[in-house]
Amino acid sequence: MAQTCVSLVILIQVFLLFITKIQAKVPAIIVFGDSSVDAGNNNYIPTIARSNFQPYGRDFAGGKPTGRFSNGRIAPDFISQSFGLKPLIPAYLDPAYNISDFAIGVTFASAGTGYDNATSSVLSVIPLWREVEYYKEYQKKLRAYLGYQGANQRIAQALHMISLGTNDFLENYYAFPSRRRSQFTISEYQNFLIDIAKNFIIQLYGLGARKISVGGLPPMGCMPLERNTNLMGGSNCVDRYNSVAMEFNSKLHNVSLSLSKQLPGVNLVFSNPYFILMHIIKRPDYYGFDSAAVACCATGMYEMGYACAQNGMFTCTDANKYVFWDAFHPTEKTNHIVANYVVRTVLSKFL
Ligand SMILES: *[C@@H]1O[C@H](CO)[C@@H](O)[C@H](O)[C@H]1NC(C)=O
Ligand SMILES: *[C@@H]1O[C@H](CO)[C@@H](O)[C@H](O)[C@H]1NC(C)=O
Ligand SMILES: *[C@@H]1O[C@H](CO)[C@@H](O)[C@H](O)[C@H]1NC(C)=O
Repeated sequence: MAQTCVSLVILIQVFLLFITKIQAKVPAIIVFGDSSVDAGNNNYIPTIARSNFQPYGRDFAGGKPTGRFSNGRIAPDFISQSFGLKPLIPAYLDPAYNISDFAIGVTFASAGTGYDNATSSVLSVIPLWREVEYYKEYQKKLRAYLGYQGANQRIAQALHMISLGTNDFLENYYAFPSRRRSQFTISEYQNFLIDIAKNFIIQLYGLGARKISVGGLPPMGCMPLERNTNLMGGSNCVDRYNSVAMEFNSKLHNVSLSLSKQLPGVNLVFSNPYFILMHIIKRPDYYGFDSAAVACCATGMYEMGYACAQNGMFTCTDANKYVFWDAFHPTEKTNHIVANYVVRTVLSKFL
C-alpha cells in the first residue's frame, strides 16, 4: 500500500516535470494573419469585417461573440491548448487583456487582410505591415514586463504562426478584374505575394523569431460562398481556385525550405491545411458531419458577418453537423480537427 503511494507520488512528479518541460519549450504563441486566426482585433477598428454579434460565438464559453469568425474557438486556440498553454489566444487590441496575458499568447491578425496591401484596403482592415508595427510595440511592452533578456528569450522560444492569403485571391484578385488582375497574371500575382511572404518571414527573423510556422491556403474553391456562386458548375467546388491554392502552397513550401537554409538557427515549417480540409469536405460523413456544401449560419449559401445576423432565423441548430459555420469560415469542430492534424503532423517538432 505504502509502496503504491510512493510510486504514485513519483509518477505524479514525473508527470509534472513533463508538463513543465512542454511549457518551457514553447512559452508563447504569437499569431499573424486574417480571419482564420483573428480573435477580435477588428472589433477595435472601423470596418464592416466583423463578427462580434450573435450568432457568432454561440458555442464559445458564455456564448460570447468575441470577433472570432466561428461558432466557437478557432485553430490557434486549440493549438495553444495542445502546447499546454491557455485554451484561448487573445486579440492584441482587446482592452480586456494586457501584457501578462499576451506574454503567453497573442494574435495580431485581422479578418479580411492579405499579404497584399491592396487586399487590406478593400475592407479597411489591418494591413500585414501594421501587424508587424503592433508586434514591435508588443516587444517593447514585453521587455518592460519580463526584462530585456527575459523578453528576448521568450521571443526566441515562442512559436510564431502565420495564416493568410485566401483574401488576396478571393476578395481582391478575382473580385476586381480592373485592379491586380489587369496588372498580373495569376502566376505573377502568386509570385508577388510569395515575395511579400518571404520578406515578412525575414522581418520576423530580424525581430528575433526563431520558431515559425507559415500556413498554406485551404481549398478555397470549396468554400460555400464560392460553390454557391459557381452557377455553371452545379454548386461544385471551383477547381480553378483550388488549383491556385495548391500552386501557391507549393511555392510557399519552397520558400520555407530555402529560408530554412538561409537563416541561421531558424526553425521554419510549412503547415498545410489543404489536404485535411479537402478530405473533410469530400467525406463529411467520415467525421460526423451532414454537410460541407452549405454552412450553418443563415441560408448557408452566401452569408457571413452581418448577413449571418440578419438572416438568423435560418441558422442551423447544431453547428457540429456542418463543416462550415458561415459561407467562408469553418465551424469550431472543423477548426479542432484541422488544428489537431497540424499539431500532429508538423508542429509536434516544437513540443
Ligand atoms: C493585467 O491585468 C490584471 C487584471 O486583469 C492585473 O492584475 C495585472 O496587474 C495587469 N498586469 C499588468 C502588467 O498590467
Ligand atoms: C505596403 O505598405 C507599406 C506602408 O505604406 C509599405 O511600407 C510597404 O512597402 C507596402 N508593401 C508593398 C509590397 O508594396
Ligand atoms: C522551388 O525552388 C526552386 C529553386 O529554389 C525552383 O527551381 C523551383 O521552380 C521552385 N518550385 C516552385 C513550385 O516554385
